[in-house]
Amino acid sequence: MSPRLVRADGDTPLRVTVDGQPLQGVRGQTIAGVLLAAGRLAWREGPSGAPRGVFCGIGVCFDCLVTVNGLRDVRACRRRARDGDEITTQSRGEG
Ligand code: FES
Repeated sequence: MSPRLVRADGDTPLRVTVDGQPLQGVRGQTIAGVLLAAGRLAWREGPSGAPRGVFCGIGVCFDCLVTVNGLRDVRACRRRARDGDEITTQSRGEG
């Protein structure tokens, strides 16, 4: 089974970009939720080059970091997506 976006009646759709690619989500969904629903299971690399995405899902491990609207090191599992967010992926040791 692959991740997917499931909408219910009354959900408010939103649109973000991830590395310039438009993705759709719904209001209330975390950035990690939007990425997972789009089939992105990993979006950065750790120091060893191993893929990273959601590990703990509760804001403890920092494996899910992304840059949101120019702000680095945002935990994707904790930040709710907002319509128009510009999200870029990042890896440790960058910039
Ligand atoms: S998945 Fe662990 S902090 Fe986000």
